Amino acid sequence: MSLTQTESWGTRVGLILAMAGNAVGLGNFLRFPVQAVNNGGGAFIIPYLVCFLLMGIPLLWIEWSMGRFGGRSNNHSTPFILDTMTKRSFWKYFGVFGIFTNIAVAAYYCYIESWTMSYVYHSIVGTFDGLSQTQVAQFFTSYVDIGVSTTGIPYEAVIFYILCLGLNTWILSRGLAGVEKAAKIGMPLLILFGVFLALRGLTLGTSGASAEVPTASAWDGLNFLWTPQFDSLSNPKVWLAAAGQIFFTLSVGMGTIHCYAAYVRSKDDIALNAVSAGFMNEFVEVVLGSLIVIPIAAGYLGLDWVKENAGFGMAFQTMPFLFEKWGPVLSAVAGVMWFGLLFFAGITSSLAMGTPWMGFMRDEFGWGRMKGALSFGAIVLVLGLPTVIFFQEGVFDEYDYWAGTVALVVFALAETVLFAWVFGMDKGWKELMSGSDLQVPTIYKFIIKYITPAMLLVVFLGALFTPANNEWTVAFQDLFSGNGWALDNSSIIKTIANTGLHQQLAAATDPAEVTRLTDRLFYTNMARMILVLTFAGLSALVYVAALRRMKSNPSTVA
Ligand code: PHE
Repeated sequence: MSLTQTESWGTRVGLILAMAGNAVGLGNFLRFPVQAVNNGGGAFIIPYLVCFLLMGIPLLWIEWSMGRFGGRSNNHSTPFILDTMTKRSFWKYFGVFGIFTNIAVAAYYCYIESWTMSYVYHSIVGTFDGLSQTQVAQFFTSYVDIGVSTTGIPYEAVIFYILCLGLNTWILSRGLAGVEKAAKIGMPLLILFGVFLALRGLTLGTSGASAEVPTASAWDGLNFLWTPQFDSLSNPKVWLAAAGQIFFTLSVGMGTIHCYAAYVRSKDDIALNAVSAGFMNEFVEVVLGSLIVIPIAAGYLGLDWVKENAGFGMAFQTMPFLFEKWGPVLSAVAGVMWFGLLFFAGITSSLAMGTPWMGFMRDEFGWGRMKGALSFGAIVLVLGLPTVIFFQEGVFDEYDYWAGTVALVVFALAETVLFAWVFGMDKGWKELMSGSDLQVPTIYKFIIKYITPAMLLVVFLGALFTPANNEWTVAFQDLFSGNGWALDNSSIIKTIANTGLHQQLAAATDPAEVTRLTDRLFYTNMARMILVLTFAGLSALVYVAALRRMKSNPSTVA
């Protein structure tokens, strides 16, 4: 249907770097350490690696295969990639996830990305010089509280957000070549900065101990992370967290990989490329991701502090202060490297999130790059501003939960069933192996058909029906003794009902607290409305596109 000439990747190295850049992101440096710490350090690593081998790798192969397959008939986004694989027309509406998730995740992801830009700037101009730990933490708090700017720039958070989005839009408007170039510059720099900081983290030893934390040692952090604990294997909560991290870090279940793979030439290898990009991501995550924040923070603040404070903003609230201890020059350099690294990790991922929308609009409505990129920027701006302005009211978290977590699992499950059972495992395997430079062990045929979907189903059901306090053994005992199944407030079902918030509200007595919770409830529901409307709008576009296809080729079904 496309009138414009189809693009493809410039070189194989460019493709692998772009795919690795897509996967390597803020998740590797900010999310992974936090997940690992919150789930018992060494207790997390084994489930994490198992999930990588049994879900991550299979999903990479599935998505690369689907993408290249769809690209062959000029489809570059999941609605019609899925459509080409089956005769049933409803599948393309599942494919809406593959555009929706990218837009919704980009909305809040670009916000974090914009923090990294701003922190590079502040590291250079020396804003953090001489600040205490509390003051550095306070800086972050006032930064996201956009009304009260203590940074000297009014509405700084909004300004950097718009700048960051503008930069993304500009690179996207240059098409695939722009994305490839960003990856070719960003990935090597990221690895360089990462290795430097990791070496520093490794050589810190006990030199960070001070009067306040006399026992602080970087080694404690590393030992905590790398001493395997087998007892976690029976803890579903850790498995859910591990699976969630694998999804997010590999960018599977999003539709992004399909889109990139749709631009692979039809005779080129995908099996080896998929594994290469996947392992590159794991190297950055498991090696570099764990050698920076944890050992440095543990080295200065002590492991107990890290365990208590592990959270998403941790890297922004502590790192500038910790770098200060390295003297004025090295601290500025380290600040630029660390936040620069985060920035490169972020932008090569957020660019990827723009491509499914652009591909879709071009395939179906003939939109050129400029129009595609500008419209993406505009939609993300509208969706993203609420996450910036109502950050503290929880809009950001809401997007992250529904689009960045739940949607990934739902879509991954659907596409695995489609690939292995509807399209058919034999056909799927042939597709994966065609032009392949890697002989994938045949056991993976079995894994993709049975193990991966079964694990995905368990993960999904586990999240849907998480039992009270995450006590699975107790929950099953209760169930079998006829006492029913008590859901935890973190289960998807109770989250939809806002049960936790309602309980807090009922218990609150302080009027200020009541107002805060009422606001939170309002903004949470508003965020969901925005997401639902976005999904509905995209579905309508897919419907229109299907009608247009039918008109130009009456043999297809809408
Ligand atoms: N994988 C990226 C990260 O680790 C996030 C991402 C998700 C990127 C989906 C693209 C698509 O941060």
